[in-house]
Amino acid sequence: MNDPIETLRLEFNEELKRLSTLKELEPHRQRFLGRKGPIQHLLSSLRDLSAEERPLFGKRVNDLKEFAESACDELHARFLLGEEAARLKEEGIDVTLPGRPRLFGRKHPVSCMMEELLDIFMEMGFSVQYGSEIETDYYNFEALNFGPDHPARDMHDTFYLRPDILLRTHTSPTQVRVMEHQRPPIRVVAPGRCFRNEDVTARSHVQFHQIEGFYIDRGVSFADLLQTIQDFLEKLFGAEIKLRFRPSYFPFVEPGLEVDVSCLICHGVGCAVCKHSGWLEVLGAGMIHPEVLRNGGIDPEVYSGYAWGMGVERPVMLRHGIQDIRLFTDNDPRFLEQFLEL
Ligand code: PHE
Repeated sequence: MNDPIETLRLEFNEELKRLSTLKELEPHRQRFLGRKGPIQHLLSSLRDLSAEERPLFGKRVNDLKEFAESACDELHARFLLGEEAARLKEEGIDVTLPGRPRLFGRKHPVSCMMEELLDIFMEMGFSVQYGSEIETDYYNFEALNFGPDHPARDMHDTFYLRPDILLRTHTSPTQVRVMEHQRPPIRVVAPGRCFRNEDVTARSHVQFHQIEGFYIDRGVSFADLLQTIQDFLEKLFGAEIKLRFRPSYFPFVEPGLEVDVSCLICHGVGCAVCKHSGWLEVLGAGMIHPEVLRNGGIDPEVYSGYAWGMGVERPVMLRHGIQDIRLFTDNDPRFLEQFLEL
């Protein structure tokens, strides 16, 4: 048998059987069906045939061409499916594997306490102002009546960034900042983070939070201060809490006092938390010093005011029986996830 069309078909089929990937298929298609391939060659040879031979030969070559094309197409589709299936198998997801646990963020217990305190004071008519964590020596000390060599500076172990720039050691600098921009009556609470260069232990830390409050108007009295403090501590800790006011000293108030509450753990009987005294110190307060009012541009002959400042970590620790202040900043989810949002 010496039929070139049949020979080519056999050859084509033989080679096709050996293919197993898409990558091999395309060169094969090109070799047979391309412009320089044997099929095209047979078609070109038509013109050498006689007029009688031409139609039948032409039809047979075209049949072969169609056959070869559809055989390649079919194989292409088959390989494609096979390779896709193999890829999916490889990349597939095993839906029976247990999922990875996801940690959900919650409000930090200190933030919850801060919000609770702000709610109490907003209800009492105070508005909220935020100071700056980086302060000048002037607002943190000078304007609050701590002269350059004032001994009370020793109680504030300060992180200085530059000789006159520091990390605020308390929220009190907000007092003069607000006075500079607001006229009395002023009723402001200022929450925020403070920093002191202290050893980090279970009871003290280099960073902590305070909330400052102050009220300036005509005729604000010491009695107003005591009443406000009593109202808010009872709201915070419950009406059965007992309070103790002790005289104390801060350069920016006169007179100054510290306030203790009866121990929340032992209710005054004496325990390790209150060092067996039955009392816990919670805040400092006093009547704003005339000099401080003057530094804020407010005439102390006309106006008077009170101020208090309270640490925020302490009440959280007391409420939840937390023994170590470092837990607040360790970022350990096992600690943090115990606090449900209030
Ligand atoms: N700023 C003081 C401190 O950090 C607390 C305080 C505030 C005292 C306002 C009196 C008045 O210790």
